[in-house]
This record gives sequence, C-alpha cells and structure tokens, in this order.
Amino acid sequence: PIPLIIDTDPGVDDAVALMLAAASPEVDLRAVTTVFGNVPLPMTTRNAGRVLALAGRAAVPVAAGAARPLVHDRALRAEEWHGGDGLGGRASALPDPIAAPDPRGAIVVMAAVLRESAEPVTIAPIGPLTNVALLLAVHPELAPRIGRIVWMGGSLGAGNVTGAAEFNAHCDPEAAHRVLTQADVPVTVVPLDLTLRCPADPQWVAALGAGGPRGHELAQVLAHYRAAYLTHYGRDAVALHDAVAVLEAIRPGVLRTEAMPVQVACDLGPARGATVPVPGGGPDVAVALDADVDAVLADVLERVGRLG
Ligand code: BDR
Ligand code: CA
Repeated sequence: PIPLIIDTDPGVDDAVALMLAAASPEVDLRAVTTVFGNVPLPMTTRNAGRVLALAGRAAVPVAAGAARPLVHDRALRAEEWHGGDGLGGRASALPDPIAAPDPRGAIVVMAAVLRESAEPVTIAPIGPLTNVALLLAVHPELAPRIGRIVWMGGSLGAGNVTGAAEFNAHCDPEAAHRVLTQADVPVTVVPLDLTLRCPADPQWVAALGAGGPRGHELAQVLAHYRAAYLTHYGRDAVALHDAVAVLEAIRPGVLRTEAMPVQVACDLGPARGATVPVPGGGPDVAVALDADVDAVLADVLERVGRLG
C-alpha cells in the first residue's frame, strides 16, 4: 500500500475523505495532521480524532499543525457550511479519540513518517496548505521522500469565497504559492471546478446511511451541509470536494490531469487567493480537470460502505 499522510481541517467533506482513506487497502494511513480552516485548529484536531475513531482507526496518530496562516491573519471560517462544531452539529455524537494528539506537532510527525518510510509517501492536504509549506521550508531534505502531494484546492474558474478564490487557497495564499511553485515534489491540484461536478445527491446519502452504523452516522454529519447547499444553490446535492482528492491519492490517475504552472495571487486586493495558470511561470503542476464523475461518486460510496 501507498504510505499516506492526510493534512486536514474537518470539516464535513474532510470527514468523508478520512473515512474513504480508512476504508481503502491501497493506502496505509500513517498519520493525520490538522490545520486551521473550516473551524479553528483545536476543533479540527478533535474532529480528526473523532472521525478516525468512528472509522475504527483510532490508532492512527493525529498531530496538530498551524493555527494561523503564514502571513496575514484572518477570521474566515466555513461554519455556515460545516456547522459551528465543524461536523454539522454531530461532533459530540461521534466516539471520543482514544489517544491525545501527538505532542510533537504536525511538522515533526510528518517529518518522522517521511524519514521512517521505506517507500515514498503521498501527502494529501485537504485544507489550507500552511502545514505543507512549513514542512517544505523546515525539511527541504525530506522532499525526495514525498512521492506526491495531492491537494484539494484552488479553482481555474470562479471561487467559492470570492469571485476568484477557493476556500483552501484563500485561507493561506502565501502557503499555497510556496507549495505550487516549488519544483522538488510532484503536485496534483484537485480544484473546485472538478469537485463541484461531483455532487452527492439524496440517493447517494441515503445509500450511505443504509450501509451500517458508521455510514449512518456519516450521513447524519452530512445533513447540515446538505441544508446549506440547498439554501445556497437551491438543490440537495453536496460537493464531496476533499473525498475526490483523496480518491486520487488512493488511485493515482483516476482523475484526468493537465500539466501547467500555477501561481497564487498573494496581494491583498480582490484577486487574493486566486490560482492562476501562468505559462512559463514556474514548474508544472498536474491540475485535475476531468473524471468519470459518476464512477468517482460510486467508488467513494462503495468504499465508505465497506466500513459498515
Ligand atoms: C474546501 O473548503 C473546505 O470548506 C472544504 O473542506 C474543502 O476542503 C472546498 O473549497
Ligand atoms: Ca477541507
């Protein structure tokens, strides 16, 4: 199996992504590191532990990383979508983590996993890129041990925070720029343009909920997110953003990518956080532009269903 670190800010779609990884024998989930994002860091950390406990994977180490972005502090959160507790009001219904977070923190834990792994490790960040930017800055010597970085974030079209910027990019544009423009590690970007094309409809959620107690609980976690989508977009179909990226980490090549250099707008104006292809503007990243979206949704459902 591919050694995998998921860096996350749970987050409802993060929870689906964690369950997906836990259910997939193609990957060996070595650590889950957490970052501020949808809700503040203490909550994303606690939520990561709870989701792993729900998945029956409480032994996977959790370590907390950045509580704030690299340069410009900001108050942006996504509670409207993910609920005040980050898990649609269901966080306290989930089992408590068995162990406390690893006191060494995210950067040290990621570095240790990289050093100890005989195989190249995939890192799947599904939140702001702050921790990954710090890892690359503190431990450039470990870059060759990272097989690939598969990030859910950015958008080539419209954003979901501003007209230009997607949430994870907008939370820490400087970190995103650092990660997307380094040449040491192959990066795959799974942008909003594609993840919005993978909406889970009521039948999908019903099938998830009917699959067993874990699926049932995850479907409950999704309820608030569904209501927010219905209010905003007028339809009951939720984007499983982070799960799409984690599926690509599990099954390399499941998404169709195009190579292009991408820069991130870091000025404080209206374009802040925009992810912009700039021909000749740095190393190529693989941007996921297309997939058999029905097959992606069916695969996520089938896998998470294995957890019962
Ligand atoms: C991204 O923003 C977060 O709210 C989601 O968890 C996902 O990672 C989508 O723009
Ligand atoms: Ca996320």
